[in-house]
Amino acid sequence: MAGDLERGRQKVDWARAHMPVLEGIRRRFETEHPFRGLTLSAVLHVEAKTAALALALQAGGADVRLAAGNPLSTDDDAVAALKEAGVDTRAEKGESISAFRDGIRAMLEADPDVIIDDGADLVALVHTGRKDRGKIRGSTEETTTGVTRLKALERSGGLLFPAIDVNDAEMKHLFDNRYGTGQSTLDGIFSATNLLVAGKVCVVAGYGWCGKGVASRLRGLGGEVVVTEVDPVRAIEARLDGFAVRSMLDAAPTADLIVTVTGNTHVVRAEHFRVLKDGCLLANSGHFDVEISRTDLDGMAVSHKTVRPNVEEYRFPDGRRTYLLAEGRLVNLAAGQGHPVEIMDLSFALQALSAEHLAQHGRTMAIRVHPVPPELDRRVAEAALAPLGVSLDTLTPAQVQYMAQWEGGS
Ligand code: ADE
Repeated sequence: MAGDLERGRQKVDWARAHMPVLEGIRRRFETEHPFRGLTLSAVLHVEAKTAALALALQAGGADVRLAAGNPLSTDDDAVAALKEAGVDTRAEKGESISAFRDGIRAMLEADPDVIIDDGADLVALVHTGRKDRGKIRGSTEETTTGVTRLKALERSGGLLFPAIDVNDAEMKHLFDNRYGTGQSTLDGIFSATNLLVAGKVCVVAGYGWCGKGVASRLRGLGGEVVVTEVDPVRAIEARLDGFAVRSMLDAAPTADLIVTVTGNTHVVRAEHFRVLKDGCLLANSGHFDVEISRTDLDGMAVSHKTVRPNVEEYRFPDGRRTYLLAEGRLVNLAAGQGHPVEIMDLSFALQALSAEHLAQHGRTMAIRVHPVPPELDRRVAEAALAPLGVSLDTLTPAQVQYMAQWEGGS
């Protein structure tokens, strides 16, 4: 649906006003033009914060092209504002899978110099479609799933250009994955259901950084949180963080809400649906819509209807019902507004600096998956201190000297 331009402008202005780190970078880009003459193709969740990133890159001289990272995550108002600003944007909320794929294809047809990806769909298309680096200097990657795909390409020896793993930068995963996913997942669940968390048994599948965030926020709202894990170390970490840890099969019969954040497939499937508590809500915050098996739900349910926007009721033969939120797509963006603005300020500041790094050095960088250069991570941290109301102590000369005695020692 065509977005409302005025509302789009307001949303983008609001985001920019709360993204001081990215705005500082935008002002520098405006004078230095690090992307002059370059095309930047991005496949991202297209919403107001993403628009702020696109505008910062554009201020740096880039011809910015943007396509949706998911068919349900687009904010059409933000698209209207982006188009007005001259960013070629291919995204519409609820678009068909073929329109979604066409959008990504258009990003490649733009013959980009730098790629910004969230989930590695554009990088995958280069490797399966064109199979040629062209003038691509490199790509940056936003999310855990995308990094997993990039590392698989690297291992196979088939990676065509350097990639920067923004996801694993400290200023990204410690905050975006934990506090961003923690808050925005709940935002999506609230918007879809308008139900209470307090007193509910909430099962969180996966205790990576995203799972930690979701579990802690659910507990903060009075949920009785159970974590499921396949990794023994993470299972113990969750237990010592104070959560019950059970198998999904044990947890499902008492679950009022299940949230998947594993990055894996069919985490909730037929065997769990057979024992699921009546009325259980099912939500996914992982990148792909594969964590809750819709195939099994469709196969087992005797009826299926939409009961609210973003809530589908499935009824099993014995009368039990379950409610799938946002079609099993990432609930935080499909039903909510994505991560809080201040969090995306940090993540997108890293994206902007990493894209600049590739524009400057990509042609001579080794073809592998690189971490974000530590000095960029630190620059973002330093720029974020004052806006977040944080001040640091500094080491006294005696403390510097004290620490120096250990340096270089074994
Ligand atoms: N907004 C834009 N990109 C996002 C992402 N990857 N996760 C959550 N919110 C976002």
